[in-house]
Amino acid sequence: MTPSVPARPAPPAPPQGRRSAVTAADTEGTSEGVPLRPRTPPLAEPSAWHTLRLTVNGEPVTAQVESRLLLSDFLRDRLRLTGTHVGCEHGVCGACTVLLDGEPVRTCLTLAVQCEGADVRTVESLAPGDGPLTTVQRAFHECHGMQCGFCTPGFVMTATALTERPERPDEPQVADALSGHLCRCTGYRNIRRAVCQALDERFGK
Ligand code: FES
Ligand code: FES
Repeated sequence: MTPSVPARPAPPAPPQGRRSAVTAADTEGTSEGVPLRPRTPPLAEPSAWHTLRLTVNGEPVTAQVESRLLLSDFLRDRLRLTGTHVGCEHGVCGACTVLLDGEPVRTCLTLAVQCEGADVRTVESLAPGDGPLTTVQRAFHECHGMQCGFCTPGFVMTATALTERPERPDEPQVADALSGHLCRCTGYRNIRRAVCQALDERFGK
């Protein structure tokens, strides 16, 4: 279930030193007041803010967002949907992949404002709560298609899009889709097996 969207961050206070932009939320979960990651202060210009309306995991979401806000940061920091992982942050690893109107996209290369009116699905949409695993998730589990799991949400969302095509993708199309994802652990063989198993189950052998 998509959590409620935190209100628009307050405009920045006048600079009072190097740490003035660090808010309580930034240091949450730390013991020494050290931010988990560096944050830039919110933009003060009203024209930099937009009202974004979209659907995330089947639920309508309305939020005030800066024009520069990445979809990955919107999902993870504003909606707390941290199943979308961020690795390279420049479109290479595929870990941040979600489905935008049914198509895999890299959220580290997508601005939140580009998703106005769109339907976004993250890995959290697949097996909510204690519900049964989807065909793709079960195939990854049964084929041991993961080790550390960092890359897995991206692979699973791309594989989900493959199973939702009207016709079974051929081998080159599967290879092309998976080539946009990097995994440092598995050697890819079991990931390929998992995707093939899911496609067999969806379309028949
Ligand atoms: S974090 Fe987006 S492609 Fe690597
Ligand atoms: S399972 Fe570790 S990076 Fe893929």
